[in-house]
Amino acid sequence: MMTNRILDHPVLGKLENQKTVTFTFDGVPYKGFEGDTIASALLANGIRQLRVHEETGAPRAIYCNIGHCFECRVTVNQAQGVRACMTSVEENMTVESGKLQAAPFESAPEEWPRTYAEFEQKNKGKKVGVPHV
Ligand code: FES
Repeated sequence: MMTNRILDHPVLGKLENQKTVTFTFDGVPYKGFEGDTIASALLANGIRQLRVHEETGAPRAIYCNIGHCFECRVTVNQAQGVRACMTSVEENMTVESGKLQAAPFESAPEEWPRTYAEFEQKNKGKKVGVPHV
């Protein structure tokens, strides 16, 4: 069987000695190992895309993998905004990818910026600092 995993790690030991857990991602069952994050379990199963950008539908995946960027947010057991890179996968966990939203950022232009792209557009030609995002 083809796998994306390290089969014999010098610190963690042999993969065959790890306990497996079964979970679903968008309704499809997958197997991970106890101690896996949702992101690592999905990546090992060949799943790179965790959600789409709410407004544009662009595919999104792991970016920082240390809990800072929130690019990996998924819905876990109906709880939204869970970071897949920071959350351990558990037996019978239900994970849903982030979907395209109808109109997530409807707001008056004076309420900008809500995204970095909006920040750049609003401040085009101006000399400004970079926001902490
Ligand atoms: S990949 Fe950045 S918070 Fe998860």
